[in-house]
Amino acid sequence: MANARILVVYYSRTGTTRKVAQSLSAALSCDSEEITEAGSRKGIFGYLRSAVEARRQIPSRIAATVRDPSLYDLVVIGTPVWAWSLSSPVRAYLLANRSKLPAVAHAWRGRQRSGLRPDAGARRQAAP
Ligand SMILES: Cc1cc2nc3c(=O)[nH]c(=O)nc-3n(C[C@H](O)[C@H](O)[C@H](O)COP(=O)(O)O)c2cc1C
Repeated sequence: MANARILVVYYSRTGTTRKVAQSLSAALSCDSEEITEAGSRKGIFGYLRSAVEARRQIPSRIAATVRDPSLYDLVVIGTPVWAWSLSSPVRAYLLANRSKLPAVAHAWRGRQRSGLRPDAGARRQAAP
């Protein structure tokens, strides 16, 4: 995809996905945007809240993002794996932007494994 406009969007609770996303956007010389929230997910309560939201597929309340994904050819989504699922901030981002998303690739990061793959179903998956 020479000259493609690529955006890397990611959420990171403890920094691992941030490192991967920043390396990827540096390697591709492309834009990136971090999804943020007002509240804290630190400690055991933050962990448990994250697990419950992921299990129940509840989107969290995220801050407004700046970049418009419809202006890009490809949006790479970076999320930590929570309870075998998307993190709730990334779920919220996908829901909020589902009509603006072009081709989507997802980057995921679990405890021991990670990956990056094209994901034709991401927009459908984000549908409520
Ligand atoms: C609530 C919660 C649930 C998790 N569930 C899984 C899981 O099901 N599978 C897995 O491989 N890792 C799981 N993890 C581990 C994270 O996906 C992993 O540590 C990730 O690299 C953290 O990314 P971050 O530092 O960007 O937040 C979970 C972490 C949290 C906080």
